[in-house]
Amino acid sequence: MNIYSAEFVTSATDWNKCPLPTYPEFAFIGRSNVGKSSLINMLVNKKGLAKTSGTPGKTQTINHFIVNQDQPKPWFLVDLPGYGYAKVAKSSRKSWSKFIMDYLDYRENLMCTMVLIDSRHPPQKIDIEFLVKLGTMGIAFAIVFTKSDKVKPAELIANMEVYKAKLLEHFNTLPTYFVTSAESWEGKEELLAFLEGVLEIELE
Ligand code: GTP
Ligand code: MG
Repeated sequence: MNIYSAEFVTSATDWNKCPLPTYPEFAFIGRSNVGKSSLINMLVNKKGLAKTSGTPGKTQTINHFIVNQDQPKPWFLVDLPGYGYAKVAKSSRKSWSKFIMDYLDYRENLMCTMVLIDSRHPPQKIDIEFLVKLGTMGIAFAIVFTKSDKVKPAELIANMEVYKAKLLEHFNTLPTYFVTSAESWEGKEELLAFLEGVLEIELE
């Protein structure tokens, strides 16, 4: 898929303050610091569009970006706040959960939620629980493993095997997944092709 333009639209603190659901959209979610904002910038090839940071918890709002605005088929990319940031108070973790879950549940133009997982680590309970919750809620998702440039190839393969086995403990079929790096651009074309395929289904 060709990306002609990508622009920031809004930062919202509530799902019903998001832009009108005029175009199909994809949300990017995952643990704090997993690389959501970096992946968005990589996909649209625009450094600094989504704000990135070495400090977890940078993204705190629902951030909409419009892609290919002047083309026949614009769509939204959404950068969501990360979960599992230890320094956030329990009370605000709870409100995080409600505000994000409401967005995922009610956003009518949400085509697919991309769940980012750090390819360097063994399966984490918080990620598995989140994926299972999406499955239970009937929310379409795909998994995007991030930071593949930070692991040796053999280790990456081994990590993916462990992850796949873990997923099959919870799902009958393996969810769609991608291995990516915002540094090396691994997985960029595959992920864009997937998004394009979903957009085509929606437009039929
Ligand atoms: P929050 O908004 O805080 O939840 O973080 P985020 O998930 O948006 O992560 P962000 O994109 O800000 O990246 C976090 C850190 O990881 C930054 O220092 C990035 O430069 C780094 N990073 C992200 N993706 C990659 C990658 O593919 N490879 C490498 N080597 N570093 C990455
Ligand atoms: Mg971010």
